[in-house]
Amino acid sequence: MSRGQGTALITGASAGIGAVYADRLARRGHNLVLVARNEAKLNALAARLTVETGVTIEVLRADLTDEADTSRVEARLQADDITMLVNNAGVAVAGPTIEMDPERLEAMIRLNVVVATRLARAVAPGLAQRGKGDIINIASVVALRGDQPAISVGYGASKAYVLALSEGLDSELAPYSVRVQAVLPGATRTDLWEKGGLDINALPQEIVMETGDMVDAALAGLDQGERVTIPALPDNADWSAFKVARAVLHPNLSHRQPARRYRRNSEGPSVP
Ligand SMILES: NC(=O)c1ccc[n+]([C@@H]2O[C@H](COP(=O)([O-])OP(=O)(O)OC[C@H]3O[C@@H](n4cnc5c(N)ncnc54)[C@H](OP(=O)(O)O)[C@@H]3O)[C@@H](O)[C@H]2O)c1
Repeated sequence: MSRGQGTALITGASAGIGAVYADRLARRGHNLVLVARNEAKLNALAARLTVETGVTIEVLRADLTDEADTSRVEARLQADDITMLVNNAGVAVAGPTIEMDPERLEAMIRLNVVVATRLARAVAPGLAQRGKGDIINIASVVALRGDQPAISVGYGASKAYVLALSEGLDSELAPYSVRVQAVLPGATRTDLWEKGGLDINALPQEIVMETGDMVDAALAGLDQGERVTIPALPDNADWSAFKVARAVLHPNLSHRQPARRYRRNSEGPSVP
């Protein structure tokens, strides 16, 4: 039974971060739609949380790299009871780009980028029409690492996209009272690492967060009205300073003339 919170659809709910979101949102009184490929795990989680919390839980088995399955999830997101999307399903393919299997690279981009965008696109009109709701996009701190990539360049670029998608959509949907939050976890103890061929135990353990702590921090950030939550960041003023530094560029990003240093015969440095 929902306590007036409506229904949250969580992708990648069979394990890791998504399974903890399911637990926490059920305890907050959300009905749930749990999406992933492993139906047995989803059923076991749904059975446990139904007994423990009394909310209504549906299992929607879907492979989000499959077009027909993705369409079924989009259709479910368009129903009137939906108040939240947790866009969490993702994979990390590790290694140097020049050695990466192009099909695995494309599958990662499809899931982390294309599907996340399509699901946000599917849920947004209904939330806007009803004038409330939340889209939570699980990005990563690798979105901020630029020329010092971690895990892989493609993974970092996919998460930079999720951050940009979130910030832009939040501006677009703010007039409709729909919130879009990007969550940027650092290293979090889930099976994602092993699946990507990486050993989380090889990392300095002081940089690894437990999954429950990460999700609790992300939900605390949402409750505080944050649109970008970096669970490990001690001082949020550092994120604000980053945004201010980025905004300094805005007035000069588009001009009729190229910058002086790119002009021939300019007073700037000579161009060969
Ligand atoms: N762990 C970290 O250190 C970390 C840090 C920053 C960001 N993140 C992000 O957090 C999100 C969750 O990752 P996690 O760490 O919780 O990883 P995880 O334990 O491996 O869980 C990934 C979830 O995504 C689902 N999934 C994978 N491929 C899918 C597909 N094709 N269709 C449907 N569902 C699929 C998996 O379920 P099935 O296998 O049952 O389909 C699983 O439920 C990801 O977006 C990841 O990039 C993780």
